[in-house]
Amino acid sequence: MGVEIVVEGLTKKFGNQTIWHDVSLTIPSGEISVMLGPSGTGKSVFLKVLIGLLKPNAGHVFIEGIDIANCSERKLYEIRKLFGVLFQDGAMFGSMDLYDNVAFPLREHTKKSESEIRSIVMDKMELVGLVGAENKLPGEISGGMRKRAGLARALVLEPEIILFDEPDSGLDPVRTAYLNQLIIDLNAQINATFLIVTHDINTARTVPDNIGLLFHQHLAMFGPREMLLSSEEPVVAQFLNAQRVGPIGMSEEKDADELASEAHIDMPPLPPIPPQLVPSDGRPRAGQRTPGEWCRENGVTPPPGSFQENMPMVAGGAV
Ligand SMILES: Nc1ncnc2c1ncn2[C@@H]1O[C@H](COP(=O)(O)OP(=O)(O)O)[C@@H](O)[C@H]1O
Ligand SMILES: [Mg+2]
Repeated sequence: MGVEIVVEGLTKKFGNQTIWHDVSLTIPSGEISVMLGPSGTGKSVFLKVLIGLLKPNAGHVFIEGIDIANCSERKLYEIRKLFGVLFQDGAMFGSMDLYDNVAFPLREHTKKSESEIRSIVMDKMELVGLVGAENKLPGEISGGMRKRAGLARALVLEPEIILFDEPDSGLDPVRTAYLNQLIIDLNAQINATFLIVTHDINTARTVPDNIGLLFHQHLAMFGPREMLLSSEEPVVAQFLNAQRVGPIGMSEEKDADELASEAHIDMPPLPPIPPQLVPSDGRPRAGQRTPGEWCRENGVTPPPGSFQENMPMVAGGAV
């Protein structure tokens, strides 16, 4: 069922630049969580701390009871095998064809025979829809195909946790929609914990079970999708609804004069909460909940028109 990630009091600085301070959250096992934030807020740094590629200045990251922010290199090496990571650009070796790229972790970390490797590689290539492209070089294919090849490579060691760094960056809306559907389908099939870092609000509104928002060196909020999409908290409402009015400005935080000049402008009403994407083969999502369940249980009235099919996307698209 995947494993949960427990983050406690995490602080990361580079020199005297604080990236984020005292971040705590539990990423539930088996579900899809999205971490949103303006560019440069430290989303990629967050992922790197979760897999132990960067050390935090303070705090803990518990995975299966091990604090990977403070454990030995040997323990870290073991725990890393639980992770599959899809880096922002796919991070393919340019001189290797897709087959060898996808086979790489198996050759590096296992003693499997070439025929066993072949069967695993072809299985993952089929999962991501790349059968027939095994002998292409990364430079010969589109950005969307490179991301799918990166995903196939992230899957070969049967990870319990998959981290995606901006899977939608550089993709057009149609390819983003296909990739998002693939992510939903995979999550329903392989039961791993998924964490997606993105700044695309339409991905954040429709793909995950849980949403977090990093803003101004803090985790503004983390919780079930319906909690954030019905939240009137100014930072959350502004970001998730792609509004210009609110605390977030061009240079991340607006200055006092700018905010004062907006004081008379009301935030527009929250748009309806869209339905979640569902797996294309009709099976339930791993973290399936009834639409509106969180709102009912917490006495929150969702914005009018929520949870109806064929809802238009939020205008503005990617922030
Ligand atoms: N290895 C590093 N050394 C120093 N500063 C870094 C390093 N990696 C990232 N940063 C800084 O941390 C901040 C957050 O970066 P990043 O996590 O890449 O943002 P995001 O992924 O949210 O766009 C940026 O200001 C960046 O310059
Ligand atoms: Mg990044």
